[in-house]
Formats: sequence, structure tokens, C-alpha cells
Amino acid sequence: MSFNFDEVINRIGTHSSKWDMMETRYGVAPDDGLAMWVADMDFRAPPAVEAALAGALDHGVHGYFGDDSAYRAALVGWMQRRHGWDVDPQWIINAHGLGYGVSLCVQAFSQPGDGVIVFSPVYHAFARIVRATDRRLVESPLVQRDGRYHMDLDALAASLTGDEKMIIFCSPHNPGGRVWTDKELRELAAFCETHNLMLISDEVHNDLVFKDQTHHVLAKLMPEMEHRLVTLVATTKTFNLAGCMIGSIVASDPAVYAKLMKVAAANSGLSFNRIGMLMCTAAWQDGDDWLDDLLDYLAINRGIFAAAIDQIPGLTMMPMDATYLCWVDFSGTGMSAEDCIQRVEKDARIAVNHGATFGQGGETFLRFNIACRRAMVEEAVDRLKQAFADLQ
Ligand SMILES: Cc1ncc(COP(=O)(O)O)c(C=O)c1O
Repeated sequence: MSFNFDEVINRIGTHSSKWDMMETRYGVAPDDGLAMWVADMDFRAPPAVEAALAGALDHGVHGYFGDDSAYRAALVGWMQRRHGWDVDPQWIINAHGLGYGVSLCVQAFSQPGDGVIVFSPVYHAFARIVRATDRRLVESPLVQRDGRYHMDLDALAASLTGDEKMIIFCSPHNPGGRVWTDKELRELAAFCETHNLMLISDEVHNDLVFKDQTHHVLAKLMPEMEHRLVTLVATTKTFNLAGCMIGSIVASDPAVYAKLMKVAAANSGLSFNRIGMLMCTAAWQDGDDWLDDLLDYLAINRGIFAAAIDQIPGLTMMPMDATYLCWVDFSGTGMSAEDCIQRVEKDARIAVNHGATFGQGGETFLRFNIACRRAMVEEAVDRLKQAFADLQ
């Protein structure tokens, strides 16, 4: 492995969400606590990204930036190389992060009062955006089969009232770690066609897929669906650049593209964060080796964490095909969610995301982020074993 993911980098006092907000959010002090919540990594960015940033600092002029052609070319190259997906640079709309991208889509394809469907439990900002834009949140609970999440499209069809306009879909799924099969994706696409729904495919986790799994880009699988399909992509999860606040919306259908551009114009346009753009461009141009090593490192962290959870009676970790977010069900302990949270936060001193914030079906779960040094994962599992020692 050429990159050192074991490097100790102290993030405390750097204005990081993960380490500097854990005490206010979860009551876990960073000095002896472990930050395993928000979805970023504790790792240094790829060398090419650091070089791009150094180049910008050396140049020293940070004015408005108008030429995103290198960024578009880097996106096109990456999607072709890593996903076999041909993107035309003209299909790309840049956004200040994908949360913002989701919001643009909601505004473009629905009106206040309309229903917007999500498969819960799911990335919590989807619900926040739907509610804040005065749409009606429609939660379609995922069902568990063989310990994994599956969409229940029959139940969803039966619950439709006719005002639903779109689905915000998370692929791969956060927090369940699912990589959806091509069959599932085709069924979802057919469902959208039958019920006249736009499909927003948020594929921000598309590169964080373990090596025995294949992520299917929906737009590549079903190009004939372009009139109702938008894809969201970014470098930010893949290369740990979330602070850049940059993501892209890909829409190949001209009418879909035009609707998005109109809403973007109403939201102050799409002028880009210049430094972030340079970093993201470098990552897509030169980040392949770093990502390959990262996935090997994360796979070992996953193995260590999963094996430890397996040894604690009552705890079950969902099989994780993708992401670095472990979704652990505590319902088998027979304890209340509050008691479990108390043990994890107060006894083990680990800050994690609470399952209920991901919507219906998440209540008995906690989400642990293992994109950190291996020594920290090992420390976390020791603390968890101790905190639940009375169950052994
Ligand atoms: C599915 C999904 N979409 C979007 C985001 C946020 O993207 P951004 O930081 O670009 O707003 C996240 C962050 O965790 C996510 O998991």
C-alpha cells in the first residue's frame, strides 16, 4: 500500500464538524472521545489534490473563476474509467454540494404541497430539504430480507395518493450500505414510468464500493429513462473533500436540464468555488491509485468492526457492500434506544449518528463511521465490548 492511512492527524481545533462539534452534538469530549459520526474521513487527501491546492496558494490570486472545462473533462474521464459511463460535458450542472443539488432538484420537479418519496431510513438531509421546501415527505420504509434492505414497491404503489412527483434515491444506500442490483434498479425505473415520477439518483457513494461488488449507474443502465432521470455525483465522499462543497448534477435530457438551470439561476447561479474546483479536478484526474488503496484499507476496518459487533450479543451489523458507514441494530439487546445511546456515548465515549434521524425504520440503529485510523477502530470495538460486557 503506497498511502499511509494510519497517519495520526489531529483534527481537533481545525473547525471540523466531526471532532470540533462532537461535544455540543453528543456530549462526547474530543480529548478522549472517538468521533465516528458525520460522513467524512480522517485521512489526508490524495497527493494530487494537495499539489493542486498548493499551486493555487502559490499563485495567490483568488478572484472569480469562470472556466470549468478542466473540471468537466475530469468528471467525464473518471465516469468513463471507473464506471463505464459516457457523460457529455454539456450534461453537467455544477452545484455547491449535493445537499444543494438535491434541493435544486426538489424545486425543479415539484411544487409546494407535492409528495416527494424517499426510501427510509435514508440520509437525513433528504427529509430536511423536502420539509423545508414545503413538500410532503413520503417515507417508503425499506424492508429487511436476509438481513439486507429491499424496496417494497408494491406497498409504495398501494400508498400513493396521486400528488407524488418524484423519488430521491440513494445509490449505494446510506445508511444501509446496499449496492442495488440491476434488477432492482430496472424495477424502480419501471415504477417511476408507471407512476409518472422523476427519479433523482444520488450516487455520491458510487466509488466507495468494495471490490467484490459492482455499482450500476442508473443513467448508464437505463438511458431511455433520461426524460425522468437526474444523477448526482461528486468527488467529496470518495476523496474526503466534503469541505469543498462541490458536486455535480448530470441530466442528459434537454428539457430536464433546462428546468434545473432555471432553478439554479433563481438560486444565484452556479459560480464555482475556485479552490474546491481545482482540488476536485485533480482528484478525478489522478486519484485512482489512492482510491484503490483506500478501499483495501476500509475493507480491513470493516472486517474488524463487523467481527467485533458479531461477538456482542444482541447487536447486528448490516452486511456492508459500500460506504464506510456501519449500520448497527441494537434491538436484539432488548434495551431502549436511549439506553443503548447512553452506553455508546457515555460509557464507550463514541460519538455516532442516531438511527432515528434517518427516518422510519432507523430507530433501533446507530451508524458508525469507520473511515479512520485502524487503531481507532480497534479502540472503538474494545470500548463497545466493555460497554456491553454484561450481555456476554
Ligand atoms: C447520500 C448523500 N447525499 C449527499 C450528501 C451530502 O453531500 P454534500 O456534502 O455535497 O452536500 C451526503 C453526505 O453524507 C450523502 O450521504
